[in-house]
Amino acid sequence: MYRIIKPIFFKFDPENVHYFVVKRLKWFNDKFPLGKTIIRSSFDVHIKGLEKEVFGIKFRNPVGLAAGFDKNGEYVEALNNLGFGFIEVGTVTPMPQPGNDKPRMFRLPNDEALINRMGFNNKGVDVMAERLRILKDNHPDIIVGGNIGKNKATPNEDAVSDYIKCFDRLFDVVDYFVVNVSSPNTPGLRELQEKEPLKKILNTLQLRNHKNDISRPILLKIAPDLTDVQLDDIIEIVAETKISGIIATNTTISRENLATEKILADEMGGLSGKPVKDRSTEVIKYLSEKSNKAFPIIGVGGIHSAQDAKEKLDAGACLVQLYTGFIYEGPGLIKEICKALVK
Ligand SMILES: Cc1cc2nc3c(=O)[nH]c(=O)nc-3n(C[C@H](O)[C@H](O)[C@H](O)COP(=O)(O)O)c2cc1C
Repeated sequence: MYRIIKPIFFKFDPENVHYFVVKRLKWFNDKFPLGKTIIRSSFDVHIKGLEKEVFGIKFRNPVGLAAGFDKNGEYVEALNNLGFGFIEVGTVTPMPQPGNDKPRMFRLPNDEALINRMGFNNKGVDVMAERLRILKDNHPDIIVGGNIGKNKATPNEDAVSDYIKCFDRLFDVVDYFVVNVSSPNTPGLRELQEKEPLKKILNTLQLRNHKNDISRPILLKIAPDLTDVQLDDIIEIVAETKISGIIATNTTISRENLATEKILADEMGGLSGKPVKDRSTEVIKYLSEKSNKAFPIIGVGGIHSAQDAKEKLDAGACLVQLYTGFIYEGPGLIKEICKALVK
């Protein structure tokens, strides 16, 4: 079915198609008589033996939706009904912000890839927190990750206060947190991946986290463009700050080995999909081996098939996430991966 619709979708601007589709999915799920039942019976994964407990959370299956797809936590229930084991919302910032000028998302069909320079467009953490509160009241079983960032206008020296604002506001309504310092689309953000600023952010969040009776797992999302030395620093930082794990990886700024014509490939932004697959797997393998499997890793980057997901798990990931593969392959990909994993 998706094979038939995809060429039509691919004729239109990717961001417009994205909102067109998710809005209709939500309407069908929430408003259409028997809509939920139809979505669930067509896509949801009812396979036993895929449950996994990672950082204290029980996941019904290991295939999650990566950050950036549902920036404001608007479509979580409908997306969950497609079969995902968990949904990561955001990146959200304390204040609403419009993101970069459009167009800011590009398809590279020859490489089964996307380039985006969205720039953390979102409605702000208050709007997200209120939405997720309602969701959690009605569906406490849906696993939601809160991916948090800083506003463009906030200088890096004050970044920690932005992460704290998002953390405090979302604490009661998400199951785990992701500190995003790896997006290439907020100027200077990736400098926060350096040892000192990163330790400051994570230590401050952990202090906050452990003041509460219950604490939430905090993960760090990293870029695929880090050097081995930087990855060694990451391993050290995880041990020192005692965060719960790593998400590897975000989009890449590299443009190596693309089949796409230069003018399109040279669009500014982060590249995702098939071209990032091997590097992302390499990063997972490096972290897993070098740290002696000291912490859980969520593997993301270029998963377009069950085999791609297996490669990430074999490299040391315990959960996986999809974004670009979900666009290119459609919602059937979730069940396809789950079926292959249970075998
Ligand atoms: C349009 C788009 C927007 C994204 N926005 C975010 C974001 O806000 N925060 C984030 O951590 N990652 C974001 N990502 C990165 C994805 O979560 C994922 O890490 C990356 O795309 C690699 O996975 P993929 O190859 O399966 O897409 C975005 C990716 C795309 C394609």
